[in-house]
Parts: sequence; structure tokens; C-alpha cells
Amino acid sequence: MSDPVYQVIGEAADVAENRGKAYMVDGVQIAVIRHEGKLYAVDEFCTHADASLAFGHVKDGCVACPWHYAEFDLETGAAKSLPAVEAVKTYPVRETEDGKIEVALG
Ligand code: FES
Repeated sequence: MSDPVYQVIGEAADVAENRGKAYMVDGVQIAVIRHEGKLYAVDEFCTHADASLAFGHVKDGCVACPWHYAEFDLETGAAKSLPAVEAVKTYPVRETEDGKIEVALG
């Protein structure tokens, strides 16, 4: 398997703890979310009815959709509670030493 190719998408300081921010990367809309200091990247839109997970409530390793509160695991993207049943995609994401966010869409 080849290594993921990372690209810079923004400033790490723009994503505060337990907050998300939406980014368009190569035509893919993703939400970058910080939780317990770590960054996660998932598809922006909830698999139930397309609310933006960039505005979700972040707690206990999950982001809860702002519309009907389905929770998604930040690590795996798995839907942990109804009404969503389908996972969101996750993407490798990292913070560089000079404070940038890099993601790999794969
Ligand atoms: S749109 Fe996310 S739970 Fe309904």
C-alpha cells in the first residue's frame, strides 16, 4: 500500500478544542474536528439528512449531528446512534510543526 499523500488545507489554530471547521479539498467537503487536542477529519455531511458535522457537538470521542443528534465515532466514522446508520468516511489528518493542517484524501 502506498503512503497517503498529505496536502495543506489550513491553519491548525483555526480549529479550537471540541469544535469543527468545514473545508473543501479537491471537491470533497470534509469537517476537521479537534478533540482532546487531536485533529480528526470526516466527511462533512451526516449520512442521515446531510447536516454539517462541522457544527456538531463533540464529546467522548464522537461528534453528534446538530440536527437529529446521531453520533459518529471520530476515529472510525461509525454511526453510533440513530437516526444515522451509515458511517461517514474518515481521512488521515495531521498537524505540522509550523501549525498547518494536512489531510490525505487517499
Ligand atoms: S441530519 Fe444528522 S442525524 Fe439527521
